[in-house]
Amino acid sequence: MTRTILVTGGAGYIGSHTSVLLLQRGFDIVIADDLSNSSLRAVETIEVLGDRRVAFEEVDLTDQAAVAGVFDRHPIEGVIHFAGVKAVGESVQEPLRYYRTNLTSAMNLLDEMAAHEVWDLVFSSSATVYGDPEMLPIDESAPTRPTNPYGRTKLMIEDICRDVARADRRWRINLLRYFNPIGAHSSGDLGEDPRGIPNNLVPFVMQVAVGRRQQVEVFGNDWDTPDGTGVRDYIHVLDLAEGHLAALDHLETGCDELNLGTGHGASVFEVIKTTENVSGKAIPFEVVDRRAGDIACSLAEVSKANRRLDWRADRNLEVMLSDAWRWQSKHPEGYGD
Ligand code: UD1
Repeated sequence: MTRTILVTGGAGYIGSHTSVLLLQRGFDIVIADDLSNSSLRAVETIEVLGDRRVAFEEVDLTDQAAVAGVFDRHPIEGVIHFAGVKAVGESVQEPLRYYRTNLTSAMNLLDEMAAHEVWDLVFSSSATVYGDPEMLPIDESAPTRPTNPYGRTKLMIEDICRDVARADRRWRINLLRYFNPIGAHSSGDLGEDPRGIPNNLVPFVMQVAVGRRQQVEVFGNDWDTPDGTGVRDYIHVLDLAEGHLAALDHLETGCDELNLGTGHGASVFEVIKTTENVSGKAIPFEVVDRRAGDIACSLAEVSKANRRLDWRADRNLEVMLSDAWRWQSKHPEGYGD
């Protein structure tokens, strides 16, 4: 029997990679996406790489009647909820839009899931819920105190999920706290395609490598880290996608939080050097002031996810960056080319 999974935000960066794996594993999928920060080209590529058709629904999840319609039209048995607005800086400028979009979407979805007796949910949370960590590596019991509205929406949705799961024992929810997803599908045809100037390091470095931008600005080399630049736990987007399939396979009654990372850190300078190696391109950079709100180091304690999900992120930084480079060099303008 085929299970049908609703993937909200399935045309986006992490959603598209997860969708391919779902198809390859024999699931039927319904992608619900408003295309506000994604492209239909990604959906076409998912169908090619997954070698199956996708049911696509262009919907805005803040419209509850539209969400109900998706559940009415498809025999959905589980949901992976990726959709949402996700730019930290923008969330500081436009907090109400962030709260309204992310919280309303999540509540509409939970409401319609319950109304249609669908109780299995995997939610895209973020390591951003931990804010500035007291201890490294960060485990799931660390204090949660996000430092911006975007991060607070993630934590609020987690709280809502914990509350609904406490109120009704039919819910089975895994909350996945991602560290720093990078990389692309090994085909080079699916990847991250940020609109405008990239906020995140790797997409920026890739655009420099491909000649779209002059140089990388390194946000500080006076951090308390081995080379003075910020250290992050980068995880290959395909390892992360596999983590979602494992999370779907290992749902238990109630609601649980799981870190998805590698447990290994890389600095900004390491990312730049490794990209130079895998691309053969020089990456000019300039050290500038620290970015407001940044932290020195973020590193995941991953033993809980390894154990509970029987999952591990295996791909190293070189694989992550060579896959990102294959995507960027094959599609210099992303999906718009
Ligand atoms: C950012 C978000 C975080 C989100 C995560 C998703 C912020 C403040 N935080 O985290 O909420 O969950 O992305 O991947 O935006 N850097 C540079 N130059 C650049 C860009 C980044 O030096 O042009 C440095 C940063 O200072 C940091 C590292 O590179 O040390 C990684 O930055 P980034 O990719 O933006 O990720 P995070 O800041 O960890």
